[in-house]
Amino acid sequence: MSLKASYHDVPVEGRAVLVREDLNVPLKNSRVADETRLRAALPTLRGLSAAGARVIVMSHLGRPQGRADPALSLRPIGACLSQLLERPVAFAEDCVGPAALEAAAKLRNSEFLLLENVRFHAGDEANDPDFAAQLARLGEIYVNDAFAASHRAHASVVGVAERLPAYAGDLMLSELQALHRALDDPRRPLLAIVGGAKISTKAGVLRHLLDKVDRLLIGGAMANTFLKAEGREVGSSFIEDSALAEASSVAGRAGEKLILPLDAICARQMAPGQELRTFAVESVEPGWMELDIGPRTRELFAAQVAGAATVVWNGPVGVSEIPEFAGGTLSLAEAIAGSGAYSLLGGGDTAAAVDALGLSGRFSHVSTGGGATLEYLEGRELPGVAALRNAA
Ligand code: 3PG
Repeated sequence: MSLKASYHDVPVEGRAVLVREDLNVPLKNSRVADETRLRAALPTLRGLSAAGARVIVMSHLGRPQGRADPALSLRPIGACLSQLLERPVAFAEDCVGPAALEAAAKLRNSEFLLLENVRFHAGDEANDPDFAAQLARLGEIYVNDAFAASHRAHASVVGVAERLPAYAGDLMLSELQALHRALDDPRRPLLAIVGGAKISTKAGVLRHLLDKVDRLLIGGAMANTFLKAEGREVGSSFIEDSALAEASSVAGRAGEKLILPLDAICARQMAPGQELRTFAVESVEPGWMELDIGPRTRELFAAQVAGAATVVWNGPVGVSEIPEFAGGTLSLAEAIAGSGAYSLLGGGDTAAAVDALGLSGRFSHVSTGGGATLEYLEGRELPGVAALRNAA
């Protein structure tokens, strides 16, 4: 991986810097419900302001399909950013055209301006050249700090980078460095843990990781499909029938690298308040569903983690949003956090799970990316990263 050039490498004082952040955060009653991505954007925004740039921030929020949707306005996010920065953040009612140009012209050195949702224009997702040129008119330098959106070849991610000198922000660099350290230059043994429901959505990740890791641990509902492909009785557990052949193929290639659950916490329904039973994976009774890894599996996974120097984890190993089935994910998170291994957590559901368990501060790096991190773990080049200047 070539390291990308940083905005710290260029003089920005007095210059209009157009920054793409990923401020796509959940809103509840028009208020920000999770500030994680906003906090992650602060180092770059503060760094540019401290260096005397005029800081013009753009982002998408949700999927408004190219039309203005008041429920997806970035205005409440500007208010929250302003609180976090402890500085005023001006707001432009549109991300291009007169409203944006006038607001940008009023900006003085070190001040902040947030533009309205770039996806209110269809030209963003289409990477329309005219739309990209209109965005690019607002700045002299472009900074992409939106790692989590950099798998999208959109105008605000790629089109602008082709029209302005394009540098990486601090969050972008920290995400790339963490992924590089964990996957391309790891201390070994390198252990990957992949959970979640479906093999089909992570087949590329499994195949790419297999080539890199010393051990691959599988949890979550996708483990049921692996177990079924091995001919085990999985009761009424969720099975992805269309992925059985893929599971056999991955297992065949993985050989001894692959480690599957030994036992499972089961219930008759995936709901709170159910009777729970623990079964060995050989003998799950009809009518019971595997919903979390069991005690023997937790011990096995913890022992594997204790022997690893680097751990990459994507996807909860049980239905962690229901407290009765979150124990496996919690014990795994604690094992990783206490292991001393370099730990990288990726994928939105993993970050949300450890956050809900109050553990997110205890890992070497928790990626802000969902889809972007998965694409990186598949070994794919992210277009928004490829468009940035390489470090000298
Ligand atoms: C995300 O939340 O994964 C990013 O903000 C990208 O959003 P998108 O999937 O709507 O492009």
